[in-house]
Amino acid sequence: MQQRVPVLCLIVSATLAAFGCQSPSESPPEVEASGAPSGEESVAVPSNDAAGEAEGQAAVAAPPSQPASQPVDVAAEAAAWLRVEESDLNAAQRSALAAARQARATLGGTLMRTVMEAAESGLPAAVEVCADAAPRITAEAATPGLRIGRTSHRLRNPENVPPVWAASHVNAARPEAALFAGPEGQVGELVPIATAAPCVGCHGARDSLTPALRDALASRYPEDAAVDFAEGDLRGFFWFVVEN
Ligand code: HEC
Repeated sequence: MQQRVPVLCLIVSATLAAFGCQSPSESPPEVEASGAPSGEESVAVPSNDAAGEAEGQAAVAAPPSQPASQPVDVAAEAAAWLRVEESDLNAAQRSALAAARQARATLGGTLMRTVMEAAESGLPAAVEVCADAAPRITAEAATPGLRIGRTSHRLRNPENVPPVWAASHVNAARPEAALFAGPEGQVGELVPIATAAPCVGCHGARDSLTPALRDALASRYPEDAAVDFAEGDLRGFFWFVVEN
């Protein structure tokens, strides 16, 4: 799929490579020692003593748009997910992860093509197309056992809030991929998305956007925080979860 948009994909891959996301293993993940897997069939299982630390993480992680009424549930859910490495996964999880990564890459190519085609009719009009098409295309990439989405530390669309397990890493805005294991053997991954040159048209400095584009964005996204990105900046993340 990606071959159909070679130039754009090259731009994005080059930028992503600049972020080092092709080699996530360079930055050692913080695996809880107490939850480390012991057998080949096992996945990191959370232990109660992880809860205290995770509560702190969830407090940092809670996106401002989430209702304040759920902190305990959010903390417990976040605590149930642990940062892992691929070598911690069993064979079935690893092959599901490989398939999910493929689906994620295909989705990335499809979204890029869609946004670039839409941009040909002018950015304000493209906002209307993207506003409907990008969430729909993303939702359609899900399959039984695979959930997938896009998120950011600075959101345009408030519906793109990160899943609870991902919030801490997303809000820390480190341009690194990160792998997580859930309490029921789920595997979750965050994949950084760099700001490439064509993205700056709609996500660049607010002052650089034309009045028509600013109006189009403001009417759809009154809380838009996804401006003022420069080429090469971390724009956000793809996330996905494969069920056990
Ligand atoms: C035509 C304007 C336009 C262009 C160009 C554009 N975007 Fe967006 N972007 C949007 C709109 C509108 C949304 C909100 C709708 C949605 O959920 O996709 C959005 C949302 C996103 C999101 C989801 C997170 C959030 O803030 O809601 C990411 C990630 C993203 N864009 C990345 C990019 C990247 C990377 C590029 C360049 C390859 C790009 N965008 C180019 C208009 C644009």
